[in-house]
Amino acid sequence: MRTLTRIAEMKAVVKELKAQSKSVGFVPTMGFLHEGHLSLVRECRKSADATVVSIFVNPLQFSPKEDFEDYPRDLDRDRRLLEGEGVDFLFHPESEEMYPEGYRTAVEVGGLQDKLCGRSRPGHFKGVTTVVLKLFNIVQPDMAFFGQKDAQQALILKKMVRDLNLDMEIRVLPIIRDQDGLALSSRNTYLNPEERQAALVLTRSLAQAKLMFEAGERTAGSIVTAMKNLISREPLARIDYVEIVDLDELNPVEMIDRDVLVALAVYIGKTRLIDNIIMEVKGEAKRGEQV
Ligand code: PAJ
Repeated sequence: MRTLTRIAEMKAVVKELKAQSKSVGFVPTMGFLHEGHLSLVRECRKSADATVVSIFVNPLQFSPKEDFEDYPRDLDRDRRLLEGEGVDFLFHPESEEMYPEGYRTAVEVGGLQDKLCGRSRPGHFKGVTTVVLKLFNIVQPDMAFFGQKDAQQALILKKMVRDLNLDMEIRVLPIIRDQDGLALSSRNTYLNPEERQAALVLTRSLAQAKLMFEAGERTAGSIVTAMKNLISREPLARIDYVEIVDLDELNPVEMIDRDVLVALAVYIGKTRLIDNIIMEVKGEAKRGEQV
């Protein structure tokens, strides 16, 4: 695996790959890699001739109050993991390389960026779309791989690619979980053992939603209330949001008469965790259409 820190070097590598008619697959990350990241890397390796992974903790997507400084970093370990997966190129630029003195430009996906996580993290998705567009321009991937763990992020990036006519495909892969069901996240490392246990309320509340849905409940409000009640019984948990929204615009639905995203963000102590599931209405929507 070759590690590149300069944009010009990365671009030269990509130019060479393209000259050889090789397809380029790309997995953008902020590092401190876990099995969730590696699942994207494996799929990328299967799908593309050359795999580029980026590790860049993007200051633009953290607000001044957030954990940019504390965000976990372990480049040596990450490098070993990526070597083990057979990754071809690691792009690891410095902040000054990505945002030199006088940097001014941003890209925004209006509307979608202000919902769900956008409400409590203003400016976050603008930071994400800006860095990802820069990375796409540098790496010029034919396909890029993202996790459903960050469902809103994936939806926004898909919209950006469509709206700005980028010649590439975004693939979204399932959430990888620990054995007890907690979604893997680099931020899980902030949790002490008591908090790690308490964090399972996210998983349990989603399981509760699924259970009610499968038993025929279709009123979104009833499911959201049950989830909130369950979470509020955990003393270490504080709800940021629990919402059931449509999959295109992320607007809250009243009745679940189409496929929906059940999404939540919950503070466990000081750590903000997110998780989600998609609930599919399957045959019922189609039956409805025929009437
Ligand atoms: P990061 O949090 O490092 O995540 C990188 C990719 O891994 C994202 O696509 C994310 O959805 C995916 N991922 C994280 N946890 C996962 C899990 N448990 N299962 C499956 N996939 C998972 O997301 C970012 O970085 C940044 O916002 C980035 C896109 C790199 C822009 O800075």
